[in-house]
Amino acid sequence: MDPNTSGLEQKLAEAGQSHLLQFWKELSPKEQQNLFQELQGLDFQEINGFFKNAMETSSNSKHEKMDGRMEPVPRDVLGSVTRDRESLKDWEVKGLDCISQSKVAVLLLAGGQGTRLGVSYPKGMYNVGLPSHKTLFQIQAERIVKLQQLAEQKTSVKCCIPWYIMTSGRTMDSTKDFFSQHQYFGLGKDNVVFFQQGMLPAMDYGGKIILENKGKLSMAPDGNGGLYRALGNQGILDDMQRRGVEFIHVYCVDNILVKVADPTFIGFCVQKGADCGAKVVEKTNPTEAVGVVCKVDGLYQVVEYSEITLATAEKRSSDGRLMFNAGNVANHFFSFSFLRDVVQKYEPQLQHHVAQKKIPCVNAEGQLIKPEKPNGIKMEKFVFDIFQFAKTFVVYEVLREDEFSPLKNADTQDGKDTPTTARHALMSLHHRWVLNAGGHFIDENGRRVPAIPRDGAGGTDDNLKDGTDLPIKCEISPLVSYAGEGLEALVKGREFQATLMIDERGVHELVKNGV
Ligand code: UD1
Repeated sequence: MDPNTSGLEQKLAEAGQSHLLQFWKELSPKEQQNLFQELQGLDFQEINGFFKNAMETSSNSKHEKMDGRMEPVPRDVLGSVTRDRESLKDWEVKGLDCISQSKVAVLLLAGGQGTRLGVSYPKGMYNVGLPSHKTLFQIQAERIVKLQQLAEQKTSVKCCIPWYIMTSGRTMDSTKDFFSQHQYFGLGKDNVVFFQQGMLPAMDYGGKIILENKGKLSMAPDGNGGLYRALGNQGILDDMQRRGVEFIHVYCVDNILVKVADPTFIGFCVQKGADCGAKVVEKTNPTEAVGVVCKVDGLYQVVEYSEITLATAEKRSSDGRLMFNAGNVANHFFSFSFLRDVVQKYEPQLQHHVAQKKIPCVNAEGQLIKPEKPNGIKMEKFVFDIFQFAKTFVVYEVLREDEFSPLKNADTQDGKDTPTTARHALMSLHHRWVLNAGGHFIDENGRRVPAIPRDGAGGTDDNLKDGTDLPIKCEISPLVSYAGEGLEALVKGREFQATLMIDERGVHELVKNGV
């Protein structure tokens, strides 16, 4: 474990990273061992190459905004839950058919650090305060359980939707422990497969790796596009092949409304012969911080809001809608063969994006510093950067209130994408399911709550901000209904007082029962 005799010192010198050993003599034997191992595991020439390319790409893109090179998604690749109502049933049947043949897998991107939410544990373990206190992981797991049942009922064939969960160095152990403590939420242990994405060091603007403290590098996950490298080097692609997986639904952990393995989306993509697809919601506010799916120089891409001018973000089509309105909800479809090509051929071509950050570090004098302005960069690949390689790319537009409410930030008074907005979005959706199935709600005086909630009680993020107009408290377990189906027998013609909970044990009114 001697940096000199082992050749480490020389390797670092050649890469211009010798400063990483500057406090070596001050470290305890244990700390020396940890640092030695960490350094031995890194390929410094590769990291320096990533830095050089990422900085070049990012300084080029600063000089030329995307605007002039962008085109909206053409109508012929677009499917929509509102405009294509007559096809939805066919797509759903097709999707369920693929699921029932165990050809569909889901893949969860859960390697992020949840910095904005401000919790130290993985975001999927977050409880947004629903009546059931379910976490995001549990909600997603139960949707998979239910979907397997729905597919089985249709075909009488037993099927399985394997769930691949990508974590990072920081989230792996706690995520695995959480699933094991909860018996995998009713899923087969062998069908929940964890794997780990890579980490990269943070660098200062001169390309030097930043030390977090005297004996430790500042490391961060390599972005959700780290998926592709991990799929290859963690044996996940092989596992998919062994299981006969043909279609993969990839999604982000933070969307409480996510329709995991959505059969209609999968059926749409399969029927269109797509190798790659993206689910979107209509972006209605030009400054909303979602990426938009579009074409750049003729190739499909997601362009983040920060990459275009406000004038382009505000451009409208003749129908009055935003021209670039295909808001990315981080919900993607890939065929297995496309994913295999990406992993085996295209991954090295993906560029890292640069995020300027305030990175806590140790200075040359050995003092710990918490910088007040950005002092370096993190490098990340993005999951959607492979759209450009698709031969048949499709886009599927869904309704925001049915499918998209991400949990990004901690609760604040008028916060966006918070635990409160996520909880309200789910309860509001479930309220509508009950109404659609013929149920009614009454208030504490026994009066019927209007079927179409008055402005503010319906649960859109904007009018729920002040917390005064609360949605009806209503939660339906995914084990009972995946997307609103199968509720008539439970609610039709009945009146309920909130809080209403429907789960696999039955229908409960928590207030009436004094809960
Ligand atoms: C993401 C999308 C954005 C979209 C928005 C919708 C990307 C790069 N951007 O933005 O276009 O409009 O969601 O909510 O996808 N993650 C990892 N490993 C990492 C980093 C992140 O697995 O190294 C996972 C996170 O756990 C999370 C997801 O990727 O599930 C999204 O990450 P986040 O940083 O929250 O993306 P946004 O900036 O919100």
